[in-house]
Amino acid sequence: MSRSVAVLVGSLRAQSINRITAKALARVAEGSLTFDFVEIGDLPLYNEDLWQDGAGPAPVERMKAQVAAADAVLLVSPEYNRAVPGVLCNALDWGSRPPGKSVWSHKPAACVGASQGAIGTAAGQVHLKARMVTLGMIAMGHPEFYLRFEPEKYAPDGSVQDESLRKFLTGYMDAFARHIERLG
Ligand SMILES: Cc1cc2nc3c(=O)[nH]c(=O)nc-3n(C[C@H](O)[C@H](O)[C@H](O)COP(=O)(O)O)c2cc1C
Repeated sequence: MSRSVAVLVGSLRAQSINRITAKALARVAEGSLTFDFVEIGDLPLYNEDLWQDGAGPAPVERMKAQVAAADAVLLVSPEYNRAVPGVLCNALDWGSRPPGKSVWSHKPAACVGASQGAIGTAAGQVHLKARMVTLGMIAMGHPEFYLRFEPEKYAPDGSVQDESLRKFLTGYMDAFARHIERLG
């Protein structure tokens, strides 16, 4: 049975290498995982005053409903200044409120990231994983996914044309599918 994964990309750039990576992961996972990309660029900056009778602004309610409906969550993000981009932190904060109504609690989850640099978001993921645990997600610790993005490994349509990269992406998605299954 195909499980659904809510995917949040921590970059709003049209040419984001993290979005390209997320789409490549979606392709290799086809058949076992279905990706639902969650828009986070239209969320207002977190402001407690914007809650009205327990409901947030429309984009917040849409994001929360999408995440709540999914079997799992995948965060795909660059690192900014060795930490987590504000746009993704903002989405995580909105999803965690009101108290007792967090959409992150008990969600099977994983985080991955790509950068042009050698450490492939490893420093940022230290912060991101700490947040995921704090939010009550059941985060997959291993395998880890730190990708140095090399554009020549992708075809113009975004598909992966490098065999070792395809193997890496497939291995990671297989492990994530098992993580989700284990947690039921
Ligand atoms: C504000 C800012 C901070 C950044 N900090 C880091 C960093 O700490 N480590 C790193 O490898 N790259 C850093 N970068 C470069 C990003 O990895 C690079 O812009 C990458 O393409 C962003 O991912 P995206 O293509 O998905 O938007 C930073 C970029 C920005 C805009």
